[in-house]
Amino acid sequence: MDVKRIPAKKGDYNLQNYEEMCETFSWDDMKRNFTWNETGKVNMAHEAIDRHAQDPNKKNQTALIYSAPNREEKLTFGQLSEQSNKFANVLKKYDVTKGDRVFLFMPRSPEFYVAFFGILKTGAIAGPLFEAFMEQAVRDRLQDSEAKILITTPELLERVPQEDLPALEKIILVGESDAGSARYINYHSEMQTASANFAIEWVDLEDGMLLHYTSGSTGKPKGVYHVHNAMIQHYATGEWVLDLKEDDVYWCTADPGWVTGTSYGIFAPWLHGNTNVVRGGRFSPEDWYGTLDTHNVTVWYTAPTALRMLVSAGEAVVNKFDLSSLRHIMSVGEPLNPEVVTWGLKAFDLRIHDTWWMTETGAQLIVNLPSEEIRPGSMGKPIPGIKATIVDNEGNEIPPNQMGNLAIKEGWPAMMRAVWNNPSKYESYFVNGWYVSGDSAYKDEDGYFWFQGRLDDVINTAGERVGPFEVESKLLEHAAVAEAGVIGKPHPERGEIIKAFITLNDGYEKSDELLEDIRQFVKTGLSAHAAPREMEVRDSIPKTRSGKIMRRLLKSWELGLPTGDTSTLEE
Ligand code: WT7
Repeated sequence: MDVKRIPAKKGDYNLQNYEEMCETFSWDDMKRNFTWNETGKVNMAHEAIDRHAQDPNKKNQTALIYSAPNREEKLTFGQLSEQSNKFANVLKKYDVTKGDRVFLFMPRSPEFYVAFFGILKTGAIAGPLFEAFMEQAVRDRLQDSEAKILITTPELLERVPQEDLPALEKIILVGESDAGSARYINYHSEMQTASANFAIEWVDLEDGMLLHYTSGSTGKPKGVYHVHNAMIQHYATGEWVLDLKEDDVYWCTADPGWVTGTSYGIFAPWLHGNTNVVRGGRFSPEDWYGTLDTHNVTVWYTAPTALRMLVSAGEAVVNKFDLSSLRHIMSVGEPLNPEVVTWGLKAFDLRIHDTWWMTETGAQLIVNLPSEEIRPGSMGKPIPGIKATIVDNEGNEIPPNQMGNLAIKEGWPAMMRAVWNNPSKYESYFVNGWYVSGDSAYKDEDGYFWFQGRLDDVINTAGERVGPFEVESKLLEHAAVAEAGVIGKPHPERGEIIKAFITLNDGYEKSDELLEDIRQFVKTGLSAHAAPREMEVRDSIPKTRSGKIMRRLLKSWELGLPTGDTSTLEE
């Protein structure tokens, strides 16, 4: 079946008048949905949690359904409000004040969400780290942000290089531990004695809320800085794109270490007062279908890699489950294959709605709305309030159907406000009034955007963004490696896999054992998702005369493509 266009099903969607809204909507119109519009008192934690806890009709509604292979737990809005108050008191006791960076490095768990809102209530900036990070990844982020407090588990503690982190004053351990140090605080014993009343820190809409580190093609990961004002867009997209209604049970499969797991795993659903499912543990088709079935999920936000794995798992698996509660599906993070959309029509009798955005953009920008026609392979159209286009290198708009750099008119609510400690990097995103994404795309004559690829060397493996420089740096730390160049290689299920080209130091012979040892070195030093799945030993790595690795050339060789301009290649 070759489906080019899938019409919107008839339905009662939140955004019915898209065309008209694109003409008339202003972000100011969204402000009436927030208590601060009347009180002037701002804090994301108030809007997402406390406001519902103070509403007698919502207080006892389940906010969080946490389920993992070894643990099931539910928290109401009232409980989440009270427990995060307690945690805010714990932080206050250890001198956390507005603007401090407090990081979380732990698996998804109820304590994560309690601590997260506790941090926001103190006015501090939360920095969630993906639990699979190894020592180098943790070091880079905690050093750059100068985090004052880290919340982690005894199991993950060994990956925290404490001696390299002079700014880190305390480590709050969630779980039983006999590790002794003046730096350690036990989460559970502190929570037992903490007061459940906390005077929330009212902040400015432009005050810092969140730091998410993300990779570019050069240098260490960068701290993308988001402010409380982002809630305006989280709320708007929760209404228009997630199509949230009061009774929806919502599940976003992303980990809160990544921006999808905060913007759409925390903010959007709870700003709307929805019941939010968090599934712990690892992916398996049975587990994920089971989660949809058991909790009667109605709205589901997931990623192409996972969907492709569900496709591979076959029909027999999906048929074992009752997925009749599901009414709306979205996808993000990498190109959504048209075949997967076609499969979705068959497997779920539902369209899968692609959405495009980035860590830097803070919220969805280009989307397939439930009320609009879908053109499989296209990311859709900009939401009301957003002007998107395609620009050339000088930031000039180019006509439909021509490829260029996908760009957004500067100044939407959830846009990052800074790159931590790196103003010149921040400036470099903006050209001629446009935020330039680094994605190549074109726009068709009806205004649908079509993703083509990255314009830089950033790798997208299973929806996770990996900077080649980070992997190359880690490879070079291995005694056997002299030089390294790292690229993304197309892969049917993972989108891309990481391929490393290396040269060996004198005295080392190429062998399967050595290559596996190098791979493990990256995996245990940086993170599993950054470890090269393929490695190739070469006599030399192509570089420019100024010593820059020519990853484009490596990629062209790998894919058997024309090599283009190699005039800067070192002799
Ligand atoms: C990059 C951003 C915030 C979303 C999660 C990823 C790629 C994102 C799509 C899509 C094709 C996509 C882009 C983008 N990407 N969504 N719908 N179709 N590519 O956030 O880690 O900051 O990565 O992911 O290349 O630049 P991220």
